[in-house]
Amino acid sequence: MKSSVVYYSYSGNTDKVAKVLVDWLKCKDFTVDIYRLKPENEKRSFFLQCAEALQGKRAVLLGKDNFDLAGYDLVCIGSPVWAFSPTPAVNTYLDKMLNADDKAVILFTTYGSGTGVKKCINNIEKRLKKKGISEIYNFNIQQAKVDNRDFVIKTIKDKIGSFLFKLSERT
Ligand SMILES: Cc1cc2nc3c(=O)[nH]c(=O)nc-3n(C[C@H](O)[C@H](O)[C@H](O)COP(=O)(O)O)c2cc1C
Repeated sequence: MKSSVVYYSYSGNTDKVAKVLVDWLKCKDFTVDIYRLKPENEKRSFFLQCAEALQGKRAVLLGKDNFDLAGYDLVCIGSPVWAFSPTPAVNTYLDKMLNADDKAVILFTTYGSGTGVKKCINNIEKRLKKKGISEIYNFNIQQAKVDNRDFVIKTIKDKIGSFLFKLSERT
């Protein structure tokens, strides 16, 4: 089973969760390609970050991002919640990803207060559905819990464990 974990992280929280997810997928016998999106001209002001996220801005991505998802059994996409929305880097990735229509997708976010997590997930899900992707799961971790590895693993297991089991039975 082959999986791709692509995510953006500004201050490191989503990065920590992505790494726990990768370890967990490896324990479940997935091979994992992990990629942290790097946008050009990353905004450092909270207000500009919020404004860009709210407007659904796209970022120019640096690096050789793997947009072609043919060959993966599972696709995982992670973003911090910014102003109830995904980040510009993730917006670009969602626009450009290819050959994902028959894939199972796991979305994961990290967040602060929790306001807007649902809106952010709905935003991404709507766009994935437009691309023909129907099998979409998610899990979300509050920033205060990202260092609690046991909690993150338990959340992953609770939210996507049974689905992953079915996925591995299928192939
Ligand atoms: C610009 C900005 C906007 C944010 N907006 C929200 C929000 O709408 N809801 C929320 O619960 N947390 C919000 N947060 C908190 C982040 O989602 C949270 O700190 C997240 O874990 C950051 O992930 P990172 O360290 O991977 O960048 C926001 C943070 C920033 C910087």
